[in-house]
Amino acid sequence: MYSFKFQNPTKIIFGKGMIAELSKEIPRDKKILVTFGGGSVRKNGVYDQVVAALKNHTFVEFWGIEPNPKYETLMQAVELGRKENIDFILAVGGGSVVDGSKFIAAAICYNGEPWDLIQKRIKVEKTIPLGTVITLPATGSEMNCGAVISRKSTMEKLVLSTPLNYPKFSVLDPEVTFSLPKTQVAAGLIDTFIHTMEQYLTYPVDAKLMDRWAEGILQTVVEISPRVMDIRPDYDSMANYMLTATMALNDFIAMGVPQDWATHMIGHEITAFHELTHGYTLAIVFPQLLRVMKDEKREKILQYGARVWGITLGDPDDRIESTILRTEDFFRSLGVKTKLSDYGIGEDTINKIVARFEMRGTVLGENKTITPDKVEKILRLAL
Ligand code: NZQ
Ligand code: ZN
Repeated sequence: MYSFKFQNPTKIIFGKGMIAELSKEIPRDKKILVTFGGGSVRKNGVYDQVVAALKNHTFVEFWGIEPNPKYETLMQAVELGRKENIDFILAVGGGSVVDGSKFIAAAICYNGEPWDLIQKRIKVEKTIPLGTVITLPATGSEMNCGAVISRKSTMEKLVLSTPLNYPKFSVLDPEVTFSLPKTQVAAGLIDTFIHTMEQYLTYPVDAKLMDRWAEGILQTVVEISPRVMDIRPDYDSMANYMLTATMALNDFIAMGVPQDWATHMIGHEITAFHELTHGYTLAIVFPQLLRVMKDEKREKILQYGARVWGITLGDPDDRIESTILRTEDFFRSLGVKTKLSDYGIGEDTINKIVARFEMRGTVLGENKTITPDKVEKILRLAL
């Protein structure tokens, strides 16, 4: 097992009716910027609960943070936040609203061009404190310090990460998930699954607890998926879904293990060019990445196949292919397609992604062996 440091300061407030707790979590003397997406929270009662909880607080609202949150939109919130002198941000929405709010939190405090914090990786020295009410279990953004921000004008999608952006608290009320479209639930389940894989499916370092923990998350996703995809899911299934998504990307399963993240980095480029939903891009890339990288990942693919899918018999190479097929079948069972062509995406996009990685000198994967030519192989298999 590798040496590591671990600290996750986010307080989780979990359960039915917990949005009311906001009144106690945010100090009364704060001026709050409350951020929202496109309006789902108006229809499912979340907005009313937030406003009721904040009735003795001072706040201004910013609406319209879109999926794959855009720098251009977020800069309007930065302007509002500065003008109103806000000193707390409450993000109410899915991963995009939370990620966008993390960018706003850093950008308000930065005197230069805020995009440089992302593109030039300038160290973030200060942020506005942030809390969240997460409405879509998927990204783990409610309990991690990352944010993925897109820029419309250049079609880029890049990561901002600073320990200053761990939310102070996050409210997880499973009831808010009942209004989710099944397409988003499917994408959220796949996102949770692949977050786990990025920290698990690398090479063995004898991290026994981390392996079992990751496998526990994968098995839970598989077990709960029929219930959470049901037309009328029950509270406990959604509660399990919500906690599982948070636990897949809040640093816990990363203790002492190598990490990959190539599926995500390639997926982000597909979204950058086509606005394809994040979880869908992962379902396209991951199976083909396993095929191309199967020699380096051999031991862990066999372990994953055995422990998650019960694939234990036969020649190891056949077991590896059966495990990949089983994984693809799982994604398809959620109604999610696994090929670029299913979305009308073709060779020209592959060429653009490969050229971009070449220009940036990007090498991916736990061994930094996923060079642009391997990315091309992966994407061609996914055509
Ligand atoms: O905007 P509204 O109207 O709220 O509707 C949203 C949006 O259209 C809707 N929605 C959210 N909660 C709902 C709901 N509809 C009904 N009922 C609810 N309870 O769902 C749509 C998608 O929302 P979005 O926030 O975009 O989805 P998600 O949470 O999957 O976030 C995706 C973004 O997070 C990034 C992705 O790249 C993408 O930009 N990621 C962030 C990560 C992180 N911060 O650690 C890690 C991930 O790997 C990921 O890259
Ligand atoms: Zn993800």
